[in-house]
Amino acid sequence: MRLALLSLSLCVSLLSTAAVAQTKPEDAIKYRRSVYTVLLWNWMPMNAMVRGRIPFDAAEFASRAERVAALAPQLLEGFPQGSHEGATTDAKPAIWTNFDDFSAKMKDLERETAALASIAKGGDQAAIQEQFAKTGGTCKACHDEYKAD
Ligand code: HEC
Repeated sequence: MRLALLSLSLCVSLLSTAAVAQTKPEDAIKYRRSVYTVLLWNWMPMNAMVRGRIPFDAAEFASRAERVAALAPQLLEGFPQGSHEGATTDAKPAIWTNFDDFSAKMKDLERETAALASIAKGGDQAAIQEQFAKTGGTCKACHDEYKAD
């Protein structure tokens, strides 16, 4: 019993230190690019529907919008301080000198993807298209400033 408690507290303290300080740049880059990859996987079919390249399917759109809204709040933790140094990344160093602005742009993404998920449930195609464009604008606003192309 005492041993179990001891190993439990060891686990908890290991977990918290790992989360705070010991992220290597390559690990953070791998993490954030993975989240973007899953995000894009869901974004592309929505984009194709909005542009009329594939038939609009309200249920599928709503499910993908919900996934994207769940992914957006997981991105910021993928940009710890210094996670561009000595590594191959498209993240510009300006992210960490303007981190408040970068975080605000990430919050814009979170807010608009949440709105997209909620509007998508309603199934109103015109409203969905409008909100999709608005959400896409938050991707572009950040990429224009903080992502190398
Ligand atoms: C607040 C800033 C910000 C927002 C908002 C943002 N991105 Fe990005 N995105 C970045 C940065 C910075 C990178 C470069 C990451 C790297 O290479 O380390 C990136 C990379 C990517 C990548 C490439 C991943 C890879 O494997 O190299 C994709 C795809 C992507 N973003 C899609 C999107 C989409 C789609 C949206 C909107 C729904 C979005 N992003 C919103 C900052 C942002």
